Amino acid sequence: MAAGALLSTQRARFAAADPLVPPPQGLPEGEVLTAATTDGVQVSAVLQSQRHAAGSLDLLWSAERVWQLFPFPGETGTEGMDVLLRAWRHRMDAESPGPDSACTVTWPSRDAPAIHAFLSHGLIPASVLAVRTARPEADGAPPRGVTIRRARREDFEETLDLIMVTFDYTAQVTLRARPGVRELIAPQLRRSLDAGAPIWLAERDGVAVAVADCGWVEAAPGSWAAELLPVGRWGYVNNVATRPEARGGGAGRALMAAVHRDFHASGATGTYLYFNPTNPLAAQFWPRQGYRPLWTYWEAQPASALR
Ligand SMILES: CC(C)(COP(=O)(O)OP(=O)(O)OC[C@H]1O[C@@H](n2cnc3c(N)ncnc32)[C@H](O)[C@@H]1OP(=O)(O)O)[C@@H](O)C(=O)NCCC(=O)NCCS
Repeated sequence: MAAGALLSTQRARFAAADPLVPPPQGLPEGEVLTAATTDGVQVSAVLQSQRHAAGSLDLLWSAERVWQLFPFPGETGTEGMDVLLRAWRHRMDAESPGPDSACTVTWPSRDAPAIHAFLSHGLIPASVLAVRTARPEADGAPPRGVTIRRARREDFEETLDLIMVTFDYTAQVTLRARPGVRELIAPQLRRSLDAGAPIWLAERDGVAVAVADCGWVEAAPGSWAAELLPVGRWGYVNNVATRPEARGGGAGRALMAAVHRDFHASGATGTYLYFNPTNPLAAQFWPRQGYRPLWTYWEAQPASALR
């Protein structure tokens, strides 16, 4: 199928699945894989591979060696995706992936027919990009004894400790656990605090018990962000954590109410974040805060787990 036709079919499929998913802007570069359904419908995909260097921030959420598929299954429902994933499985026979490797596909969360194909090839929903476009809730007063304030430069150590709480927890509920996370994130946090980034702390009786590390992302037409989000200025909620002994006390909810109010007052189109569906606290907390899945990051880890 010609590039223009591939793109318009993909746009139609994405729009039918979820009107909030932005229309794909172009075809990715890479190795082309092709397959056919039993009715003889030709489908194709583009395969890219990359290796993240030691010390790269990408290693916080990614395997070191990654093969990423960009499928173009057309209007074939589950079957077109299934035959493309099978072709990918055969293609991976030519590789020798080590333990720190993954096969990944990013796909609109609401395209239900694709999910069956992903699961049958050993891919799991490792992460979800979720968005919130609602107005902030009027009622977001913190519980008694809790105050919310912006983090300052001098809060660096306390803020870093709180951010590490998320990594300690997600190490238990995902396959991604790495040594050296603290050293990897410290320089970035210092830069963000120096730049006055929107990082928030919840304090109970004067002690910081929760953090929301946020920032701005501009989804300008043609940018990487506009591939994922509707065009606009988005509040990015990068890391949220409450100390284990303070969980369930309303600090997280009060923190996010402040974050939503602040982003809304500053003209944000909405806010977005990533969470792991296998994280039982996040999977309860984020939908309650008004977030819903837009993209799902399907992953087989190690890459040899693709079947
Ligand atoms: C997600 C998280 C930040 C929420 O923070 P929190 O301060 O516990 O949030 P709240 O107290 O406002 O709300 C937590 C929800 O869990 C319930 N809960 C009750 N007891 C709880 C407990 N012991 N532990 C956790 N949650 C509990 C709360 O009642 C509330 O549910 P509700 O919205 O239905 O009322 C926190 O659970 C956490 O730090 N998790 C580990 C790190 C993490 O997963 N971060 C998010 C990564 S995307």
